[in-house]
Amino acid sequence: MTETLKGSRILLGVCGGIAAYKACELTRGLRELGAEVQVLMTVAAQQFVTPMTFQALSGRPVRSDLWDPLAEAAMGHIELARFAEHMVIAPASADCLARLAHGLASDLLSTVCLASAAPLSIAPAMNQQMWRHPATKANLAQLLQRGVRCIGPETGAQACGDHGPGRMAEPSQIIADLLAQRAQARVLAGRRILISAGPTYEDIDPARFIGNRSSGRMGFAIAAAAAAMGAETTLIAGPVALATPAGARRIDVRSAAEMHAAVLSEVGANEVFIAAAAVADYRPSTPQSRKIKRTAQALELSLIPNPDIVAAVAALPNRPLVVGFAAETEDLLVHARSKLERKHLDLICANQIGVAGTGFECDDNQLTLLWPGGERALAPAPKTELARALLLEIAARLAQRGR
Ligand code: CTP
Repeated sequence: MTETLKGSRILLGVCGGIAAYKACELTRGLRELGAEVQVLMTVAAQQFVTPMTFQALSGRPVRSDLWDPLAEAAMGHIELARFAEHMVIAPASADCLARLAHGLASDLLSTVCLASAAPLSIAPAMNQQMWRHPATKANLAQLLQRGVRCIGPETGAQACGDHGPGRMAEPSQIIADLLAQRAQARVLAGRRILISAGPTYEDIDPARFIGNRSSGRMGFAIAAAAAAMGAETTLIAGPVALATPAGARRIDVRSAAEMHAAVLSEVGANEVFIAAAAVADYRPSTPQSRKIKRTAQALELSLIPNPDIVAAVAALPNRPLVVGFAAETEDLLVHARSKLERKHLDLICANQIGVAGTGFECDDNQLTLLWPGGERALAPAPKTELARALLLEIAARLAQRGR
């Protein structure tokens, strides 16, 4: 069957940059696959390509001005936002990433992005130094956390004479990504998925706690991907500074005991439980209600074990499909398999920590999936990609079980 985008309504945002000419080819490619394309240009984009070019290619008048009374009367910015089943910004400039990250609504494109709940893909294009700037990196990280898909950029020769990352992905790559997303969009439709994420904090006194280095990014990436694939997604989050992924319901907790209670009260309605949280194994036996004062004496802290949440879920009579994580510094696969068996999990994601650039507090990761009788290593990738690969594996298992 030939792949098609027939019937899909795509809002294509075009920002200022030399790569704007590639957006013409993208418009044509999308139309050839049957998509309806509404182009929105920023003022800067019109310095590179004229609106007339996009109008001819898309078959629709281009929109660029938030304050154009005639255009607003024909299709207002809120209607534009509702028109979109999918939003694509190609090229996405550094300025655009900053506006999106901060939720600005200072021009038509940023306003429509804010007013739309449609999935958003961006294909950044900019000078390599701008791409590497910490401000751009932080803005992109924000967007990825919210479930925005980033396609590219490519590394190579740049129009400004530099060499490095910042070339816009090819239109064919953007189209391939949209087709893949469309295929995956309903893979988990009607499924209910519960995810635990982040660390837990175990209070010692009102000023101090025992915590760990989990950032919650992996669990949040799974929640974003699950919601994007159509699952009804509930995220039980320990203390993290992350935005709630679009489409996910979030319950915030602090301690392992609170997470345990929240998971057990929610899990009954779910077909899958993914335990991505780094739950503290112990908590202080007697947390103090007043701040402990410094003395010259040694201080001993007495700790008692926390409940094992994932094992408790796996022991339920009507258990869902149970997926755990094992973050290990050594003997990764041995420890992971032993946890799989000990906790009676259906699947475990083994993840090497202590290696620079992957694991805790990073955007990238390396996972091996293990199940009773098998294993599969996933290629190292950003956490958002790994989340999708994991959920495709889970979707296949649900289908196999006829659940
Ligand atoms: N887990 C849990 N509740 C706990 C501890 C762990 O649900 N109290 C879950 C984690 O969310 C993860 C899996 O169990 O999915 C493995 O967590 P990990 O901390 O690696 O396992 P532990 O049993 O604590 O083993 P250890 O700390 O000795 O490595």
